[in-house]
Amino acid sequence: MRLQKFVDRLPTMDKLKPVSRNKDGTYYEVEMREFHQKLHRDLRPTRLWGYNGEFPGPTIEAEEGEKVQVKWINNLPDRHLLPVDRSIHDVAHHPEVRTVTHLHGSVTRPDSDGYPEAWFTRGFRQTGPFFEREIYEYPNRQRPTTLWYHDHAMGITRLNVYAGLAGMYVIRGKKEKDMNLPSGNYEIPLIITDRSFEEDGSLSYPRQPDDAGDHLPDPSIVPAFNGDTILVNGKVWPYQEVEPRKYRFRILNASNTRTYRLSLDSGQPFYQIGSDGGFLQKTVKQEVLSIAPSERMDVIIDFTGYKDSRIILRNDLGPDADPEDETDEVLEWRVSLPLSGKDTSRIPAYLSTIPSLKDQNNIKTIRNLSLSGEEDKFGRPLLLLDGRKWEDPITEKPGLGDTEIWAIRNLTNFPHPIHIHLIQFQVLDRQPFDLDRYNEDGTLQFTGPPVPPQPNERGWKDTIAAPSGQITRVIAKFEPFTGDYVWHCHILEHEDHDMMRPFRVRNPKE
Ligand code: C2O
Ligand code: CU
Repeated sequence: MRLQKFVDRLPTMDKLKPVSRNKDGTYYEVEMREFHQKLHRDLRPTRLWGYNGEFPGPTIEAEEGEKVQVKWINNLPDRHLLPVDRSIHDVAHHPEVRTVTHLHGSVTRPDSDGYPEAWFTRGFRQTGPFFEREIYEYPNRQRPTTLWYHDHAMGITRLNVYAGLAGMYVIRGKKEKDMNLPSGNYEIPLIITDRSFEEDGSLSYPRQPDDAGDHLPDPSIVPAFNGDTILVNGKVWPYQEVEPRKYRFRILNASNTRTYRLSLDSGQPFYQIGSDGGFLQKTVKQEVLSIAPSERMDVIIDFTGYKDSRIILRNDLGPDADPEDETDEVLEWRVSLPLSGKDTSRIPAYLSTIPSLKDQNNIKTIRNLSLSGEEDKFGRPLLLLDGRKWEDPITEKPGLGDTEIWAIRNLTNFPHPIHIHLIQFQVLDRQPFDLDRYNEDGTLQFTGPPVPPQPNERGWKDTIAAPSGQITRVIAKFEPFTGDYVWHCHILEHEDHDMMRPFRVRNPKE
């Protein structure tokens, strides 16, 4: 399907209204349901699944420390709108449609974290073995930042998210107001996703890999998915009219597999102020933002002096050789609105203190964890964390309050965005090694010194790109809750096919 670019205005998501709010907290209800939504001027409305019947879902806003409760209600049909592979995990006996919501990046108790096996069906009629409660609680006792909520059901996360089950969640801080950042109409969320469409407007998602012989299950999971169309906030290649002034954009990559390398065709930089876990220490000027699935980047763009120009948000990881591929563009800004008043907002040089976890804690454990590939029983690529499958016994069991280094050794030929639940971590470094040699005889031969993280990776992160042939080292303090959580690759096609593992935060007194 060829769709004309920049014909639809960029929408912004509604802010979710609470059912009730009092001194003990704020209570929301969110209903997952099927609906049709127009994603492009020339596309018939697309059948989607979304929170409150919107794609992306409504934005939830919380103040730092505000107790939020959400009842996530499943009112979806019993049959999935996308092809469900029943050969992966143990889902053959599970109901076809099941959901569980994870608030990505939040510091939450295990019973509210959206454990993949805590799924439930329509009306909570059936529930997974780890299901504990209908109403989830989010303490929001963490640094103000941009989070997002999305489905996390065992074995079908990629399908549920692709169908539309994703939305933004913002924690606002008290001090943030004094920072005089662009705000109100000048603070815009940008949720970037890729999709493919059929002629009739319906979502297209492969039923099997391209090279599937007769030996593969039908439907079968695919090893990766890249849509040929880019959407922002649920519109295909939209445009946004802006004033010649500073804007703050909270960028989230909510795509299944695709990583973007974002740049502005005007040659302007992005001023990045925040990463996954909140404000950076210092504002970082970035010509290019490399953003892997689930990463968030909080940036300021200054359109001052660009009156009457059109600026395209480009994706340098777009077309390889394919002239038909149009994914090299994301969004168009038209600096066409008159300045409504003097722009008094600022781009602060200094943002927040980031205490070094490494300097301030004893490191209890260093875990060497590999990302590696083998084949499943159908001969499909099977990517694993440390050579183990989801059902294997838990091996990562930090004690409550322990500081650990996880050294993630990528033995595959492509990068994986690795996400750890419960905590925000710091990136220590990345070190390249001879991958061919390693795969031949298991010798770890470094080919260079450890490289410090990119300037915009020096804050708090919960998802980090682990490149091929490198050891990516992150450090985290496992607190404040005990219990079972997960870590996984955030390429959803990998996550669903065993590139996810449980970990347990132990109570050392027990
Ligand atoms: Cu955004 Cu466990 O995921
Ligand atoms: Cu992966």
